[in-house]
Amino acid sequence: MTETLLADPAGIARAAALLRAGELVAFGTETVYGLGGDATNDAAVAAIFAAKGRPRFNPLICHYADIDASFADVMENDVARRLAAVFWPGPLTLVLPRRAGCRASLLASAGLDTLAVRVPAHDVSRALLRAVDRPVAAPSANRSGRVSPTTARHVLDELDGRIAAVLDSGPCAVGVESTVLDLRDAPALLRPGGATIEAIEALIGPVRRGAPAGAVRSPGMLASHYAPTLPLRLEATAVAPDEALLAFGKAPAGAAVMVNLSEQANLEEAAARLFSALRQLDAEGQRRGLRGIAAMTVPSHGLGVAINDRLRRAAERG
Ligand code: TXA
Ligand code: MG
Repeated sequence: MTETLLADPAGIARAAALLRAGELVAFGTETVYGLGGDATNDAAVAAIFAAKGRPRFNPLICHYADIDASFADVMENDVARRLAAVFWPGPLTLVLPRRAGCRASLLASAGLDTLAVRVPAHDVSRALLRAVDRPVAAPSANRSGRVSPTTARHVLDELDGRIAAVLDSGPCAVGVESTVLDLRDAPALLRPGGATIEAIEALIGPVRRGAPAGAVRSPGMLASHYAPTLPLRLEATAVAPDEALLAFGKAPAGAAVMVNLSEQANLEEAAARLFSALRQLDAEGQRRGLRGIAAMTVPSHGLGVAINDRLRRAAERG
């Protein structure tokens, strides 16, 4: 079955050896847990899609220990260099053209001529990437269409027996996935995430929202993506006795079960708790036969943009 590895030197060395041997290892980053495979190994990348049950057209993010290793595989430009200098290591992913000698499997790009690259901030993930010394392709370590995992336990709930190991580095600090920017020409936001759009625009100026009309440049933009099993009702200001409540700030009374993302209405705290809260309410709500989950609104600035984006997708059925 799936090994659980401690985030100590022996655990990191074992995880790196498994990855270099073509096995799949889930590991914690500052955003969410990733389902890692050696990006230079076609079979390992294919195994990632199989383990997730993910549609083939969804390209993967490649993770690197540092900026130089990352830009060895893609053609960076001035905007990419400025962003990397400020945001890496950290929760920002850059989509850039593949270099001629790009080591990452074409399968990781899912047939596109671009590659998504990022340098994660978490110490354990960086130590792992240094030990592997190859790009590691890693989508979020959940089954396709499910909520992203923010603890090793979440990973095992969905992938136990389907991957070689999970490297347990504790709960993820940011809690929502990285921000994805397409930098091939004018910068475009493909997915809001852990690096706020305000901070990005303060550095590089205006960023276009979303892919150009007619092109699904980032399949992660597809509407339904982060679905719990129970229906999710958005913009709740009150809650019915047969609903679970995902609260933010001051919560209305009367919920059968409630998780407050942040009683102090702190968006960083709310992002870090979002996915485990959805899992908990979904499991508890199903156990009690509840009708659905009511979610209160979160302000649309800072990390609230990424939180509202994930909630909208979770509310989209089918
Ligand atoms: O925080 C994160 O980004 C986590 C951790 C593990 O690093 N990873 C993650 O990966 O969320 P995934 O596969 O669940 O989401 C990757 C996103 C998707 O929206 C995907 O469509 C987009 O990045 N993407 C990847 N490669 C792309 C490319 N070449 N062009 C456009 N979008 C791309
Ligand atoms: Mg995902």
